[in-house]
Amino acid sequence: MSHELEQLRDAALSEIGGAGDEQTLEAARVRYLGRAGSISAWADRMKSLSKEEKPVVGKLLNEARTSVTAAIAEAADRLRAAKEARELADIDISLPGTAAELGSLHPLTQMLDRAISIFRRMGFALAEGPDVETEWHCFDALNTAPDHPARNEQDTFYLPDGRLLRTHTSTVQIRTMEKAPPPIRVIAPGAAYRRDEVDATHSAQFHQIEGLYVDEKVSIGDLKGTLEFFLHELFGAETQVRFRPHYFPFTEPSFEIDVKSKALKGGEKWLEMCGCGMVHPAVFEQVNSARGDTAYDPKKWSGFAFGLGMDRLAMILFGIPDLRYFAANDLRFLRQFA
Ligand code: DAH
Repeated sequence: MSHELEQLRDAALSEIGGAGDEQTLEAARVRYLGRAGSISAWADRMKSLSKEEKPVVGKLLNEARTSVTAAIAEAADRLRAAKEARELADIDISLPGTAAELGSLHPLTQMLDRAISIFRRMGFALAEGPDVETEWHCFDALNTAPDHPARNEQDTFYLPDGRLLRTHTSTVQIRTMEKAPPPIRVIAPGAAYRRDEVDATHSAQFHQIEGLYVDEKVSIGDLKGTLEFFLHELFGAETQVRFRPHYFPFTEPSFEIDVKSKALKGGEKWLEMCGCGMVHPAVFEQVNSARGDTAYDPKKWSGFAFGLGMDRLAMILFGIPDLRYFAANDLRFLRQFA
């Protein structure tokens, strides 16, 4: 006849082998191997056994524990695998997955990033100013007379408190010079606003990059070199650049820049690109009076400034026919620039 421990072990093994769920398995473990389990009880009984019996029972006890413990681990694995298989049976792995949709940058942002990176290579730092501005920063400080047509209510969005939505980013020239003495070398990308009738080439909100360079002995040569380099980097080395005399109140002399390039759509024509000029001494004087010093002495310092229309630049670079696409939020348009 087999020993009682062997019978216990066999009973445990068959119960464990037949366990159909985790609770039944756990109950069997507690019954045989738990603190008060029937196999564990033999450990307490060892003390009372005779010298001859002790090694025999000790050996049986070890064997019973080892084999029951191993059987429990095996059954636990079996139950876990079965549970997983049941869960997976509900999933149809032949269904197409849900694709992760990658976003992309808006064409205007791409244009801006390209322009900024070219100017940064020439040492221009980024500057910024508010979209809601004072009349002084937008007009007076920029040598624009009180009766200038741009100040007309029909052209500018005025707020009830007398402030306005800036009509150009040239305001940031003034903000930058108020804050810091020369030398200055900044670009200021940002939005500008005008009460324009919306059509294929006009919008009430548009985007510009303003530039300002102030140092000793800055010349028109510096202005030309800087902007020619920029336009060649942007549109390609074969691009022709033309400086045409123009008028802006805050620069003297002033120019408009046109480009012509076979690489561009409509490239057989001269395309207007940018306003620019040498900073008017009256602008330096306005800044000095706001600062309360003579940091921008027009006899010592000179500078150039420019304003680039980013929407127009992006339209030319990407061959976009209508400005309104930029704000229409139409994925068929936006995806072309992904
Ligand atoms: N602010 C002008 C505009 O919006 C563009 C411009 C022209 C900016 C000449 C300048 C400049 O800095 O020097 O039409």
